[in-house]
Amino acid sequence: MKIIRTVAELRQWSRSQRRGSGSDLPVALVPSMGALHAGHASLIRAAAAACPGRVAVSIFVNPTQFGPNEDYARYPRTFDADCALAEREGATVIFAPAVEEMYPAGAATFVDVEGLSNRLDGKSRPGHFRGVATVVAKLLIAAEPDIAFFGQKDAAQVAVLGRVVADLRLATKLVVCSIVREADGLALSSRNAYLSSEERQRALVLSRAIRRVEAVVSGGERKADAVLAAAQAVFAEEPEVRMDYMEMVDWETLLPVASAAPGSLFAVAAWVGNTRLIDNTIIA
Ligand code: PAJ
Repeated sequence: MKIIRTVAELRQWSRSQRRGSGSDLPVALVPSMGALHAGHASLIRAAAAACPGRVAVSIFVNPTQFGPNEDYARYPRTFDADCALAEREGATVIFAPAVEEMYPAGAATFVDVEGLSNRLDGKSRPGHFRGVATVVAKLLIAAEPDIAFFGQKDAAQVAVLGRVVADLRLATKLVVCSIVREADGLALSSRNAYLSSEERQRALVLSRAIRRVEAVVSGGERKADAVLAAAQAVFAEEPEVRMDYMEMVDWETLLPVASAAPGSLFAVAAWVGNTRLIDNTIIA
């Protein structure tokens, strides 16, 4: 597996891949922070199916998207296993830059998506989406991918990045892959590694609430208040889990809706011990 450490080399790789015989060949990028699991694997597989032999996976724990009291220092780093998984799933190269490569000395340029950045996770994690938007813009400018793959798991992130691509007129198409779950429903997350076995059990309340919402909506309920109340009732069964937010919003604007419609996003974030987990469902 080829490992690329600099932006210049990534750009060169991407440009050389694109030159096909006669017509341009599409190049894919799968941005990640590593600690890869089956959720990431599904993105890499989708990328390899769309752009076989031309898939870059970035592995970069991005300091600017972590708050001062968050888990940047202890975020799981499993680089060798990540490379093996990425290769198995069809990655062509790994882009693993040092922090100074992405943020050169004196770096003062950030991408701030006004409004959107302060909603859902952005409300509880000030500065988080500024960090995400900044690093993903840098990655898209460096790799110039035709397609970039993201998970619905981070649905608010998708909304923020959709705005970045539209506003900066970037030439990358964003593809959103569905949420990969454990057999018992827990959405895969690199942060699940923090959970004790007791917390792991409690964490199932998130996916139980998601399933309840899906059932209530497919039963015909559309009023956001009623849907949210049904999900609240599920959380009441697990008082040790502390709710951060629970909202029914428009997936593009992340603003609350009174009535769930196709494309509405039901999203939840909650603290299980010291671990903050998120989950969501898109109304069909
Ligand atoms: P990370 O948390 O490593 O996630 C990388 C990608 O994998 C994201 O698009 C995320 O939505 C997707 N993903 C995570 N868990 C998933 C699951 N259970 N099912 C499907 N997809 C899943 O998200 C980030 O990194 C960072 O914010 C990043 C975009 C790389 C910017 O630093």
